[in-house]
Amino acid sequence: MARSSAAQTSDLNSLLGILNKAIPDVVSADPRSYEEARIEAIRACEKMTALLHDPFQWLFVESAAYIVPAAMSVVLELKVPHHISSDIENPTTVEQLSKATGAPVGLLERMLRILTKRMIFEEIKPKTYIHNMFSETILVPSVEAWVSLSSDDNLKAAAALLPLLKENGFKIPQNDGNCAFSKAFQTPLNQFQYYFDVDPERSRRAALSMAAFNSTSMFRDFPFPFDQLPQDGVVVDVGGGGGHVSVELARKYPHLNFVVQDLGESIASGAANPEYATLPIKWQEHGLFEPQAVKGADAYIVRHVLHGFEDETSSKIIGYIAKAMEPGKSRILIIDCVVPKAFGSDSIPFVNATDILAMLGGNGKQRTVEAWDALVKMADKRLEVVKIWQQGHLASADAVIEIRTSRV
Ligand SMILES: C[S@@+](CC[C@H](N)C(=O)[O-])C[C@H]1O[C@@H](n2cnc3c(N)ncnc32)[C@H](O)[C@@H]1O
Repeated sequence: MARSSAAQTSDLNSLLGILNKAIPDVVSADPRSYEEARIEAIRACEKMTALLHDPFQWLFVESAAYIVPAAMSVVLELKVPHHISSDIENPTTVEQLSKATGAPVGLLERMLRILTKRMIFEEIKPKTYIHNMFSETILVPSVEAWVSLSSDDNLKAAAALLPLLKENGFKIPQNDGNCAFSKAFQTPLNQFQYYFDVDPERSRRAALSMAAFNSTSMFRDFPFPFDQLPQDGVVVDVGGGGGHVSVELARKYPHLNFVVQDLGESIASGAANPEYATLPIKWQEHGLFEPQAVKGADAYIVRHVLHGFEDETSSKIIGYIAKAMEPGKSRILIIDCVVPKAFGSDSIPFVNATDILAMLGGNGKQRTVEAWDALVKMADKRLEVVKIWQQGHLASADAVIEIRTSRV
């Protein structure tokens, strides 16, 4: 049904009011009001963009949104970002790009048109490009790895979601090896297991990509007081990948010792990194589904792992850790999203996206406070959530759920 133009005008005016209020804070130096105002301004802009479209035009563009990752995957495979200038005085022509990549001019032009329209690269005059702040960020190796994984593997997996759900009567299978990723890659394995067992090249890319989430302003300090853990305290980083979280914590809290646990290329990439050699970190090849080898640690961090699995599998992972905990001493620190109460167009794009990415890769999901509570109880009745540490707008992205064992 068409919206009345009066309602539309009133919506647009109220969004303008939000922007007028938020923009001074966005340009202010105070980080807290900056972050909150930025999120508010982004939401207002998103709603305005939609309202300013003709309804079918909006639906057309949204239902063809996959052309952005499709173009991105081609551009990244051709290493285009590495051949584009950042210097406005010395921009890169499409002919130069063609020579550097071996791809035809016409193809590059068409792919870059999609991306420049999404503000990734700048076309400063016809067929002539420079980097902008978004495309330049692709030159950070972990960001390049993530954007490439996301626009390649995850795009394929997304296309397999509907056939998977149809086959299963629209119930999400309770088996991480029967997910959209496994359907797309014709494997009985979940996304990470496929990387470990079948495709070391993709596994390397995935391991590298994880650090992207620490290289942006989205994630900063964890809101848990690691400084209060005891001198020589042991922190186990379960599913810690290449160890970038432990590395950051080890540099910041030199009184602690770390054990990073993961499999395959993930753990190998951290163990082999000479920059980490002097840090108090042990690298341990250790699966999520085996009894926890480090008993009685002060803290077991499980960051961005459990959202990858449905409840039964996640509860097994927590259960193995619970058995290794020393009551009164050990705690589990689940660092993950806590889905906020915001709904509809006010919900958080990062949470929404990672929720569905978790579904694609292993039938996982992002969880609310209530869902985390229920999961922890399902894993081991002795476990209880004692506190959820959150800060500002990061509340939903990197909350720390502190879990202790009751003595009963
Ligand atoms: C989303 S990443 C998070 C990595 C890291 N904790 C972080 O915060 O960036 C999930 C991690 O779980 C690891 N993982 C997945 N399945 C695993 C398994 N069966 N055993 C051990 N690690 C596993 C992956 O290798 C990957 O490093």
